[in-house]
Amino acid sequence: MDAIGSGVIILFNAPEQTRSRDTQHRYRHDSNFYYLSGFSEPDSIMLLVAGAKSKTILFCREKNPELELWDGIRTGPKKAAEIHGFDEAYPINQFHKKLPNIIKNKKIFFDMGIHNVWDETIMNAVRAIHAKSKRENEAPDSICDIKDIIYEMRLIKDSHELNIMRRAAEISSNAHKRAMLYVRPGLYEYQVEAEILHEFNKNGCQAPAYTSVVASGKNSCILHYIENNDQLKNGELLLIDAGCELESYASDITRTFPIGKHYSPPQKDIYELVLGAQIAAIDCISEGVSYEQPHLTAIRTLSQGFIDLGLCKGSVDSIVENKDYLDFYMHGTGHWLGMDVHDVGAYKIKNNSRKFKNGMVLTVEPGCYIRPKKEIPEHFWNIGIRIEDDIVVSPSGPEVITSNTPKTINEIEDMRKIAHEI
Ligand code: GLY
Ligand code: MN
Ligand code: MN
Repeated sequence: MDAIGSGVIILFNAPEQTRSRDTQHRYRHDSNFYYLSGFSEPDSIMLLVAGAKSKTILFCREKNPELELWDGIRTGPKKAAEIHGFDEAYPINQFHKKLPNIIKNKKIFFDMGIHNVWDETIMNAVRAIHAKSKRENEAPDSICDIKDIIYEMRLIKDSHELNIMRRAAEISSNAHKRAMLYVRPGLYEYQVEAEILHEFNKNGCQAPAYTSVVASGKNSCILHYIENNDQLKNGELLLIDAGCELESYASDITRTFPIGKHYSPPQKDIYELVLGAQIAAIDCISEGVSYEQPHLTAIRTLSQGFIDLGLCKGSVDSIVENKDYLDFYMHGTGHWLGMDVHDVGAYKIKNNSRKFKNGMVLTVEPGCYIRPKKEIPEHFWNIGIRIEDDIVVSPSGPEVITSNTPKTINEIEDMRKIAHEI
């Protein structure tokens, strides 16, 4: 409310999503709504009235014993106001009637252009005010997007948020370790996915933060592979990109390990290269450094490796300049991490890459993906490797909150040796 000075912020919670016919996906609140309220029920709307007579208002579902018998407890307006700190709360069916009065003559801020029904609700309220006050125009004279204001707040995590993210990272890390100890040739990718989800759920995670990628062999070169239905073959690699969501915060880890006990020499070459790029990229993260620095560091390290391995020709400068590295490394080196796996917050300010601040959380995830091509030595074909960790920008440097996940070749081969002995 301080950030807007005066006016009214209107935030809608996410709609429920049908899975098929009359069954619903498990409810996931809107991240902005939850960030400002901690309230996670569908059919809820909050109004934050800023300025001299400031107040906070929640509209939510009424108690309904019969429906609660089927679909679970509804908090109800009175209790929701107490628990979540709203000054006033009303049944959701009073929202349309009360809205015009609350917003008249006030600037409106809302999450514009996300759902038709949110946009329409605001414009219908404006129309209702016009229709009522023919002589004096009492309608809001400006409607603004609230996104950037909330996104900038969400970008810097406080200690409470960081503690949840550290716990989420630990659970995901344990899930990856579980997979490293479970995998054997002959199993199917979906069986490995099941192990990971088991570890998430067993530890109180409400959901994976995104659909897990369990990609063996050539599938590891498909960046968003989620079919997860191939059989694991000795000699191939398994790339797992999986992270849980805990108390509304995401984690995001990728590891790539051998389905047998050892990396083959060509797999080792590519693995060491990606690992070197990842460590170099992480090492340059600290407050004041530009967001693009880890990416620039990663592409230079990878480009040198591509030259050394005979995958690219020319100098590092020319490979970077001509973007030749894109043949093998075609995605960014990371993203903000928070309530959403690809979290909110601008990457650039006035066209310049922004600078890191303490409390920001990001992933660092370079990779190398080699599709079959006649100019490329065959022993590199179908090797896809990504290594991804979650980093908090902190006063003491980059804090790798996923660091308990085995990462060096020795650490991983030790795990794989144990797995084959179990
Ligand atoms: N798991 C999604 C990503 O790494 O961006
Ligand atoms: Mn990621
Ligand atoms: Mn990932």
